[in-house]
Amino acid sequence: MKIKIAPSILSADFNNLAAELKKVQRAGADLIHVDVMDGHFVPNITIGPVIVKYMRKATKLPLDVHLMIENPAKYLSAFVNAGSDMITVHIETVTVKELAVMSKGLNNKAVKLGVSLNPATSLDKIKKALPLVDFVLVMSVNPGFSGQEFIPGALRKIKQLRAIFKKDIAVDGGINNLTGRQVINAGANIIVAGSYIFGAKNTKKAINSLR
Ligand code: DX5
Ligand code: ZN
Repeated sequence: MKIKIAPSILSADFNNLAAELKKVQRAGADLIHVDVMDGHFVPNITIGPVIVKYMRKATKLPLDVHLMIENPAKYLSAFVNAGSDMITVHIETVTVKELAVMSKGLNNKAVKLGVSLNPATSLDKIKKALPLVDFVLVMSVNPGFSGQEFIPGALRKIKQLRAIFKKDIAVDGGINNLTGRQVINAGANIIVAGSYIFGAKNTKKAINSLR
């Protein structure tokens, strides 16, 4: 499977957002990962559809929007209209029934749907959701902040998931060149990284080291 690298914009310099987007695009990024947090589902507040709309103008890369929010169904169309190409919702915030409705709606708009699970959530919780989604995002930190340490339990989860799920598996949190290699070996093919990429002196080298 092709490995895709998704820099997480949360670690970028928001004073120069357009330039930061261009920088990772030039360095070979495949997707732009956008962390949306509401201060309820996670203890941090970040950005909403308005910023996504401006990001859409600043890059041609697909926008991979990670919704760490309560009641994502309520905000789905706002993020679609803002220009998202992929939208991830957390299994802790939706029912399978809601996911089925989202899946249908997003399919019509050619937007990909992903489901994510926190480190403490077992794979069993997403089994019924698997036929409804285009990809799964395995969290390897507790969502809320960038720059946290990788939780190794994610590796077993990725392996078990890869055995039953043939589509894209993304992994998010604490990824660097070492943990990146581990998650790829376990079966992940979309690699989200924030501080490792935006904190690097040489962006291209950092992205290539993940690939
Ligand atoms: C965590 C976010 C991640 C985070 C990744 O809540 O979902 O996408 O920004 O940052 P690093 O790679 O620094 O752990
Ligand atoms: Zn994320």
